Amino acid sequence: MTDYSVAASHFDAIWLHYAQMSRLLERAVQKAIIVGASSGIGWELAIQLADAGYQLGLMARREDRLHELAEKLPGTHWVQYADVTMCEDSQQHLQDLIERMNGVDMVVLNSGVGILEGRLEWDNQRTMIDVNVRGFCALAVVAMQHFENVGTGHLVGISSLAAHVSGASMPTYHASKAFVTSYLNGLRGRVERRKAPITITVVEPGFVRTPMVLGSPPWMASVDRAVQQMMTAIVRKKAHVFITRRWRLVAWMAYLMPTTWLAKRF
Ligand SMILES: NC(=O)c1ccc[n+]([C@@H]2O[C@H](COP(=O)([O-])OP(=O)(O)OC[C@H]3O[C@@H](n4cnc5c(N)ncnc54)[C@H](OP(=O)(O)O)[C@@H]3O)[C@@H](O)[C@H]2O)c1
Repeated sequence: MTDYSVAASHFDAIWLHYAQMSRLLERAVQKAIIVGASSGIGWELAIQLADAGYQLGLMARREDRLHELAEKLPGTHWVQYADVTMCEDSQQHLQDLIERMNGVDMVVLNSGVGILEGRLEWDNQRTMIDVNVRGFCALAVVAMQHFENVGTGHLVGISSLAAHVSGASMPTYHASKAFVTSYLNGLRGRVERRKAPITITVVEPGFVRTPMVLGSPPWMASVDRAVQQMMTAIVRKKAHVFITRRWRLVAWMAYLMPTTWLAKRF
């Protein structure tokens, strides 16, 4: 005669084992959200993170571009519309995406705009402040709250070498990136003070060949090479990286030079 209770307890044990294994496997897969994944650095970062096995949440305004990207990446990915200038809406969009992904290990805040200021116009200044400062902060708060709730995480913010020099051509852009670098350094101080295992990485590119850059400025890196260097910094959980590395010399020299003399040249 068959002992159904023994068979059932075997089944329970196998099921429990299977459930534990799938939870462990799910935890082993790294999940990241890239805000501003529809172009340039964010687009290439998605490609390199997906190749490294990450599951990605892709955010930006151009959803068609995000779907096109998601379809060409290996693995499972999510797309979420967001206009970061609509701060509260985009906070909700990020929260929704984190829920849909069942949590996230890393958030990359990459959305940014740089507009030449030959004529000083408030509309352009406001756009740069809305995207690079207000939108950045709004989403950083949501990411940090998630990481603090789950007890761990990695926030990557794309600032710029422009954070270290004032610039006559785009005064607002330079100032906005100084804000980003300073804000992220402050957040790192906060997590270290609380001994929270959260990593904050500040990425400061010089010139990278993307639709944002006009002409051919010096030391322009290909987006592929720039993102390779970012990937290394991300994997090593670095606090800070210049992209490419030689720009650290410029940043260092910038502090030795007269501010206005330098600003006239940027
Ligand atoms: N390229 C460089 O030389 C360089 C140097 C230093 C720093 N950076 C920084 O690197 C980051 C990426 O720039 P990139 O060169 O890759 O430029 P890009 O190709 O123009 O990409 C900009 C990204 O920002 C997103 N974005 C812009 N406005 C947005 C908004 N209102 N809401 C949501 N997303 C928005 C865009 O998506 P949608 O338009 O689809 O919304 C796009 O995905 C920026 O923060 C930039 O300041 C670039």
